Amino acid sequence: MRIPDFALERFFARWEFAVKHLLCASDVEGWSMRELIDLADDECRALWDGLRLGYTESTGHPLLRAEIAELYERVEPDGVLVFAGAEEAIFCLANVLLRPGDHAVVTWPGYQSLYEVARATGAEVDLHELHESDGWELDVDRLLGGLRPETRLVVVNAPHNPTGMLPTHTEWARLTGSLAERGIHLLSDEVYRFLERDERDRLMPGADAFPRGISLGVMSKSFAMAGLRIGWLATRDDELLARCAAFKDYTTICSSAPSEILALIGLRAREQVLGRSLRIVSDNLELLDDFFRRRSDTFAWVRPRGGSVGFPRLFRGGPIDRFTADLVEAEGVLILPGSVFGHPGNHFRLGFGRTDLPEALARLEAFVDRTFG
Ligand SMILES: Cc1ncc(COP(=O)(O)O)c(C=O)c1O
Repeated sequence: MRIPDFALERFFARWEFAVKHLLCASDVEGWSMRELIDLADDECRALWDGLRLGYTESTGHPLLRAEIAELYERVEPDGVLVFAGAEEAIFCLANVLLRPGDHAVVTWPGYQSLYEVARATGAEVDLHELHESDGWELDVDRLLGGLRPETRLVVVNAPHNPTGMLPTHTEWARLTGSLAERGIHLLSDEVYRFLERDERDRLMPGADAFPRGISLGVMSKSFAMAGLRIGWLATRDDELLARCAAFKDYTTICSSAPSEILALIGLRAREQVLGRSLRIVSDNLELLDDFFRRRSDTFAWVRPRGGSVGFPRLFRGGPIDRFTADLVEAEGVLILPGSVFGHPGNHFRLGFGRTDLPEALARLEAFVDRTFG
């Protein structure tokens, strides 16, 4: 397989561990091992203490699959397949579902592997572009208008990285209903699910919406445990899941044994885990709202409806790559220029899941004040 570099990951490989403040991370501040182990119930504690470091079940620990299935209304534990992060799940699914001659539609700007792996299978991929002038909203009519007889897959990430887009329930029902009628699979990338600004806006998972809907989940974002590298696909399409399981034999075979137990602990304590994430994200978002109100002469800001990232635009000075380089040099604060998404213009990604955001934002503001007065 020939595949272009993953620009965002290359960017992070250069910067992530070299800067003081990551003001563009998409995950929520990670749990410490000690805090997480303290959340374990008796069964998990015994599993952890007695864990043997052999190979694990390739589909995922049965208790973990059962716990993941609890996140859905209509998915049984057998409808869950565990992967090394969401990234491996995307890789396997695209390879299993798509081939030359097929067509796929993917939301954009977005997480590169969602369209790049699809393209690398030889399928033709159209990007469904979101626009700031529409408040980054998904245009369901336009998306459906671009479907073809050979369309096999639609990929929608909501809450969306990098814009925070989240369709309304009505739009979502229209999209999933229409895909169900046409027999097209939906990969619903729900890695930021549970981080909606208003819980009532939380969408029905793709896997619940229709039998060819596939939900993509992960411990990294709302569950704040990226280092576990535990993700999953959930679907009622048994045959598709079986093919993904067979493909996984060529990637990781099975998950890390300690990570599976730790993920189980985190999921069983999800009320506490998600409560913490929501508190971090909403406190930070308030600071961002104030900042963008103060600097409305410099930035355009569409408030994210969900997730832990947003995609503001610098409309003075620029270009954004220069601004990013100057900011990191002067203040040790990293933002993610839109160019990393292949996006033209002066947008940049801000992440608000980290607990050092108040200091990072103060440094950004001082830099902006010095630069623009
Ligand atoms: C939309 C989206 N999907 C999938 C992933 C991959 O998640 P992970 O790195 O935990 O595998 C990310 C990570 O940033 C993401 O933003």
